[in-house]
Amino acid sequence: DDGTAAVTANAHFVVVANRLPVDLERLPDGSTRWKRSPGGLVTALEPLLRNNKGAWVGWAGVPDADLAPEVDDGLELFPVPLSADEVERYYEGFSNATLWPLYHDVIVRPEYHRDWWNAYVEVNRRFAEATAAAAAEGATVWVQDYQLQLVPKMLRMLRPDLTIGFFLHIPFPPVELFMQLPWRTEIVEGLLGADLIGFHLPGGAQNFLYLARRLAGQQTSRGTVGVRSKLGVVQVGFRTVRVGAFPISIASGELDEQARSRKIRDRAKAIRKELGNPKHILLGVDRLDYTKGIDVRLEALYELLQDDRVDPSDTVLVQLATPSRERVESYVRLRGSIEQTVSRINGEYGEVGHPVVHYLHRPIPRDELIAFFVAADVMLVTPLRDGMNLVAKEYVACRSDLGGSLVLSEFTGAAAELRQAYLCNPHDLDNVKDAMTSAMDQTREDGRRRMRAMRRQVLTHDVDRWARSFLDALADKGAAGRALVAP
Ligand code: ADP
Ligand code: G6P
Repeated sequence: DDGTAAVTANAHFVVVANRLPVDLERLPDGSTRWKRSPGGLVTALEPLLRNNKGAWVGWAGVPDADLAPEVDDGLELFPVPLSADEVERYYEGFSNATLWPLYHDVIVRPEYHRDWWNAYVEVNRRFAEATAAAAAEGATVWVQDYQLQLVPKMLRMLRPDLTIGFFLHIPFPPVELFMQLPWRTEIVEGLLGADLIGFHLPGGAQNFLYLARRLAGQQTSRGTVGVRSKLGVVQVGFRTVRVGAFPISIASGELDEQARSRKIRDRAKAIRKELGNPKHILLGVDRLDYTKGIDVRLEALYELLQDDRVDPSDTVLVQLATPSRERVESYVRLRGSIEQTVSRINGEYGEVGHPVVHYLHRPIPRDELIAFFVAADVMLVTPLRDGMNLVAKEYVACRSDLGGSLVLSEFTGAAAELRQAYLCNPHDLDNVKDAMTSAMDQTREDGRRRMRAMRRQVLTHDVDRWARSFLDALADKGAAGRALVAP
């Protein structure tokens, strides 16, 4: 077949994530094929794993698929099956209607159901067992994200020989919110099965250290955790668990190179032309998720049009929204409200053949997406809460021309690094409107200065550096050295 080969099941480096980097697609004629799966986790980890020939344990994205392990382009894939009922209770339920809203500042009210929790425990056990079967003696295993927080402890009980890292790709919430969770102690103890627990920001690491003391009764360090430095420590019996901040990033060098190609530049020009060569192209690129503040930027645009501060004859907003978690109630409601606002704006301010908002609800091919980044004058990244937000970094990496401007919510992890963006508070609509008009009206010189500084940050802090800093810290097991904050 297409170059796939038998899998050996003795991998020395294993990534475990809810999703494989590819989703199984079932075609109407009964055949199947793989397609890239959605989200920032896959964007960040996929290039890394392909370059290092690791193994990946995860779900193929569809219910009831019993798939054999296979090798895809040097990457070993170990599919973990989920039944339709588990997709509902573990994935849509506990992961995305309990943990996701709880960890994102309860923008939507989290639901707590014992039945969902039971499915979460069961599925985490299956992931732990699949990983134990795939990993070689003494292997390094890197567990990813909120769907699998019990795996570190379960895996350690099965395989004490492994070195286990865990990284959380979403925010770790304030203690007051985390304490709502009926299973808060189990989650903290699950994570403490790892040798190293990574968060994007020092604040998340510090929240966790506090909870390890309070809920698990462990002795912890109390000093301030740094960025890629000064790890915190939790003493769990004879084991030392370390806790740190490792802000994730993208393959910025490769993206920079792709965005410079003739093909992408020509396509970017063509996009501008297709949009009627407007003075201002505003762009939003997100999964359709209530954390992303897509509604916030649409409301801001609507008011700017009403206030006569934006001219509908020379401004367009392109919103590219990937479908996400489409059976979860809060996502269904969000989609309805976004589509209503798009229609309202176009109904009141569009012309035939010239809508103000161009809205696509589907994933966009990678090359096309890069061309949109190159074409856009103002990138709108307005989440109410986001662990990092890779889209902001992707936009910056694509702008070797030093053109364009970035409007960025203070409530993203990226805001800690991209200080030269037009930062805004998405809860303050006037502030968002002002940031948008400042970004639209910036002088060429000011824009180039800001973009140059942001590019320096993104190009020197790429995903390889992120992975290296985490894995180096993980490998350095014994050293209670200078980098640590003593208990
Ligand atoms: P999240 O992980 O919450 O989805 P990120 O911004 O960190 O958010 O990562 C999103 C990833 O998905 C980025 O690599 C981005 O380019 C990609 N993406 C988002 N929207 C689309 C879209 N409409 N079409 C294709 N890719 C998209
Ligand atoms: C975020 C999460 C990932 C998740 C992705 C896509 O990036 O941190 O864990 O895979 O969103 O969401 P989905 O529910 O489709 O996997």
